[in-house]
Amino acid sequence: MSGEKKVLVVANYDELSRVAAEKFVFHANTMVQRKGFFTAALSGGSTPNGLYMRLASDPYRGQVPWQKVHLFWGDERCVPPDHPDSNYHTACELLLKKVTIPEENIHRIHAEQEDRNRAAAEYEQMLRIFFRLGAEGYPCFDLILLGMGEDGHTASLFPGASVLEETRRLVVASYIEKRGDYRLTLTVPVLNHAANVIFLISGESKATVLRKVLEGKRHPQCLPSQLVQPANGRLLFIVDSMAARELKCYSRIKIQTK
Ligand code: 6PG
Repeated sequence: MSGEKKVLVVANYDELSRVAAEKFVFHANTMVQRKGFFTAALSGGSTPNGLYMRLASDPYRGQVPWQKVHLFWGDERCVPPDHPDSNYHTACELLLKKVTIPEENIHRIHAEQEDRNRAAAEYEQMLRIFFRLGAEGYPCFDLILLGMGEDGHTASLFPGASVLEETRRLVVASYIEKRGDYRLTLTVPVLNHAANVIFLISGESKATVLRKVLEGKRHPQCLPSQLVQPANGRLLFIVDSMAARELKCYSRIKIQTK
């Protein structure tokens, strides 16, 4: 299992969402059976929306042991939780309001706080308590979902940002120059301590950056997604054929639609 990396090329966005939902259901049930609960950090952006809508509807809604699922976020924009840009708000509208996950199992990042560093420290403290870490160590999420921007960023780990070098803190607040906003993000060591990391990448606009990340030179300062290499976990890229169109090394596995 350690350091395993796979790329699954599916026909289109609908298939990507379906396959992602099946993976979520599988990991949730596997972990609940194994240890009684499941921890997943959701990604932001729009790509996971199809996954959220599938998980909120049959058959997948009934296949997830929601009472034993704990949801976190890989990053959050510094806006109120009811703001359309909030990653929590998106998940809430598309998924959380439609499934029976207990309120106390939803661990949103309170990024709306004026003092962003304090908000990051509070989320970190919550993670340390939840994962029983003490002052050191990193949480091992059962699953971390990630997206990838056209510049190769993931979560809120953007090219050239100092947070890319962070090895001690679990959560960092940073100003995103190119977006003109502040965000809170899990740091690279946290992503790399996960048991399973799944990138969901869709669309022609991601084709060039995906080729660079997967098949180009290693340049993590410019392509932060290359930093995601779970030491003892599985790394899976679920990409649709438009995003995969420039890839040379990965076969196009057509997932049969049911
Ligand atoms: C965010 C995400 C970010 C996102 C990518 C891809 O808060 O925006 O964490 O890393 O996953 O920018 O976004 P799309 O899925 O919208 O292309």
